[in-house]
Amino acid sequence: MENKNVKVTEVGPRDGFQSEKTILKTEDKVEIINNLISAGFPRIEVSSFVSPKAIPQLADASTILENVKKDKNTTLAALVPNARGAFRAAEAKIDEIVVFLSASESHNKKNVNRSVQESLLEFRKIVKIAEDNNIPIQGDIATAFGCPFEGNVSPKRLGEISKEYKIMGFKGVTLGDTTGMATPTVVTEAVNSIRDMVPDFEITLHFHNTRGIGLANVMTGLNLGIINYESCFGGMGGCPFAPNATGNICSEDLIYLLHEMGIETGINLDKLITIAKKVEKLVGHKLPGQVMKAGPRLLSYSMNDVPTAVGA
Ligand code: COA
Ligand code: ZN
Repeated sequence: MENKNVKVTEVGPRDGFQSEKTILKTEDKVEIINNLISAGFPRIEVSSFVSPKAIPQLADASTILENVKKDKNTTLAALVPNARGAFRAAEAKIDEIVVFLSASESHNKKNVNRSVQESLLEFRKIVKIAEDNNIPIQGDIATAFGCPFEGNVSPKRLGEISKEYKIMGFKGVTLGDTTGMATPTVVTEAVNSIRDMVPDFEITLHFHNTRGIGLANVMTGLNLGIINYESCFGGMGGCPFAPNATGNICSEDLIYLLHEMGIETGINLDKLITIAKKVEKLVGHKLPGQVMKAGPRLLSYSMNDVPTAVGA
C-alpha cells in the first residue's frame, strides 16, 4: 500500500438512516451531521432527494441542509434519482449531487422504477440542472458486485456504465455493493475492468458487510491503490429495495484499521465512537459496529475490573 492518505465518506445520514422504520427528528439528524463534520470527514452523504413515498425517512433533506453548520473542509453530498430531485438539491444548495443506477436491470426497476437506459436519459437532464447551478456530480452504480435477482454482474458492464459517466462529465464512479456480494476476486475484476476501459476515472468503493468480508474487500481495494471508501457509523445501513440487505462496513472499524496501518484519514476516531453510540441510542437498537463496543486496542483497563480465575 503506497498511499498514506485515504478519503472516507460517511454515508450514515443517508444509507444508514434510509431503512430505519422509526422516523428520526430532523434536529437529531442535523446534530449528528454537525458532529460528523467536526470529527473531520471530508465528505458526508447527508440525505437523498428521492420520492418521500419511496423513502419516508429522508423526506426532510431540504430542512437538514438549511440547518447544518457547513464547513469548507467537508463536502455535503446527496442522492438524486431524477430532474425533480436535482431541482430540490440545487435549491437546498447541496455541494455535490450523487446520481445512481443499478448494474442490473431488475434492481434498477425495483429501486427507481425504470430501466437502466431510462436512468441514463434522466441523468442527462440532471447534468443540465447541475451545470446551471455549478454542482459537481458523482455517479453511483448499485449492485456493482452482484445482484440479488440476477447473480453475477459482468465487469465489462461496469466499464460501459463508467464510460457513460465520464462522457457526462461526472467526477468519478462509486461501486456500490448493495447486498454484500463483493469478494476480493470480484472487486479486483471490477476495478481492473473500469481502469482498462475508462483510464483516469476516479473509483470509490462502497461495501456492505452482509457476508462479513467488508474489510477484506477494503484491503483488496487498498492493494489495488484505491483511496476512496464509503462507510457508515455503527455499521448500520442497507437498501430497502433489495432482499436481505444489511449494514455498510462500519466507519469506526474502517478508520481504526486504516489508522493502525499508518494510513491518515483526518478523522477523529474517539469523536466517531461517541457519534456511533449516540446514533445507537437514537435508533433504539444495537448496532453491529465492533470498535464502538471494544474501543481502540490500547484502551487499558484496571485489573480490579476483572475477576481472577481461581480453582476452587
Ligand atoms: N422528490 C420528491 N418527490 C418526488 C421525486 C423527488 N425527487 N420524484 C418523484 N416524486 C414524487 C412525484 O411527484 C409523485 O408524487 P405524487 O404521487 O404525489 O404525484 C411520486 O413521487 C411518483 O413520481 P414518479 O415520477 O411517477 O416516480 P415513480 O413512482 O416512478 O418513482 C422514483 C421513481 C425514482 C422517484 C422513486 O422510485 C424513488 O424515489 N426511488 C429512490 C429509491 C432509493 O432511494 N433507494 C435507496 C438508495 S440505493
Ligand atoms: Zn449502500
